[in-house]
Amino acid sequence: MNILLLGSGGREHAIAYKIAQSPRLKHLYIAPGNPGMAAQGELVNLDILDFEAVGKFALDKQIDMMVVGPEVPLVNGIADYFATHKDLQHIAVIGPSKGGARLEGSKDFAKQFMQRHGIPTAAHRTFDGTTIKEGLAYLETQQPPYVLKADGLAAGKGVLIINNLKEAQKEFKAMLDGMFGNASASVVIEQFLSGIECSVFVLTDGKGHYKILPEAKDYKRIGEHDCGLNTGGMGSVSPVSFATPEWMAKVEERIIRPTIQGLLDEQIDYKGFIFFGLINVGGDPYVIEYNCRMGDPETESVMPRIQSDLLDLMEGVVKGDLDKRQLEIDPRSAVNVMLVSGGYPQEYHKGYVISGLDKVSKESLIFHSGTALNSEGQLVTNGGRVISVTSFGKDKDEALAKSMLGASEIQYQDKYYRRDIGQDLQ
Ligand code: AMP
Ligand code: GLY
Repeated sequence: MNILLLGSGGREHAIAYKIAQSPRLKHLYIAPGNPGMAAQGELVNLDILDFEAVGKFALDKQIDMMVVGPEVPLVNGIADYFATHKDLQHIAVIGPSKGGARLEGSKDFAKQFMQRHGIPTAAHRTFDGTTIKEGLAYLETQQPPYVLKADGLAAGKGVLIINNLKEAQKEFKAMLDGMFGNASASVVIEQFLSGIECSVFVLTDGKGHYKILPEAKDYKRIGEHDCGLNTGGMGSVSPVSFATPEWMAKVEERIIRPTIQGLLDEQIDYKGFIFFGLINVGGDPYVIEYNCRMGDPETESVMPRIQSDLLDLMEGVVKGDLDKRQLEIDPRSAVNVMLVSGGYPQEYHKGYVISGLDKVSKESLIFHSGTALNSEGQLVTNGGRVISVTSFGKDKDEALAKSMLGASEIQYQDKYYRRDIGQDLQ
């Protein structure tokens, strides 16, 4: 198969790493990719939001399957673009239709979907510019902390959790006033849930079949022991100790199955990954959010644990016979540690030379996030999240120790990483 993978972060590097292992792979193109991914496939300089350009490239290179990494092209309808253009229809797309991607693209839609299908989630109300007064009054009836969510995509920044009523009311008005542009033209006010979070991933074929991939926990705060500002993710661990078979059975029965059935009942075309952002409240799972893609940096610990051929599973998605495909999972623990630029998630420098990758043990995996080649061909930092190390261990502590060692070998100015990934779990 000729594959076109869209995206350029650590998540896509981990997917590329897995696809490259497949005996079914003929050629892997990655658009736009990053320098680390050149080891797995051919990098293509394409704007992945320019569907016409992506379509032309796919035709030209006789692509059989396109795998969409990030959410924006999906929410913008790239799967529909391919499905409705005669000359592109034969190209399979891993990623939902625009209608399916609304599970991530509109928090209000996701909440209503969960209500329709009896899926446990925090109580909520949605308000817009015409119901500001009602929203302010509703906040007065709620207990702190107040959870305010921009309805639309806001690059992971659209959720505010505020303790003080007056401040929550002020921020609510500011959101409706365009704090997140059009994304906060509607605002969801949600009950605060207290618990520990876990990311569960499912691959589904749109015919009611699904495979539950390894679960993971990500670490969002910049500082150790979960303090400081939120980031895109500072590392991840898989498996997650509280995701026991009993807990996962509740997740499957109360959340996964009704979601898959709901998509079928509502005739929403969904072939691809569903990311369930869950919270464990006193032993019961609740949905915090859906995403229409894999998580980053969860993918960096999830993909290495998948032992089966990912392209075989993806072919099952395309053909609608995912139930006939095998999913074998490595029982060992995987811990991913993200190395970031000093200053991130606020201001940071780019362009520092990265060295020491060759000193990292061959047992560890290196996934690039924000890296680039400078004019002299040197690998340099090019983002807040720069590069990450994933290692296996018989348990998470052994895996963490190996990733720590790898992280210490990689050098660049102002390098920073958390040393406590997975340490809050048993
Ligand atoms: P989201 O973008 O919906 O994932 O929200 C970002 C983060 O805000 C989540 O990962 C949670 O840590 C937190 N969060 C969102 N909704 C709630 C809620 N209802 N109760 C408690 N924390 C929440
Ligand atoms: N790690 C959370 C996300 O990818 O949205």
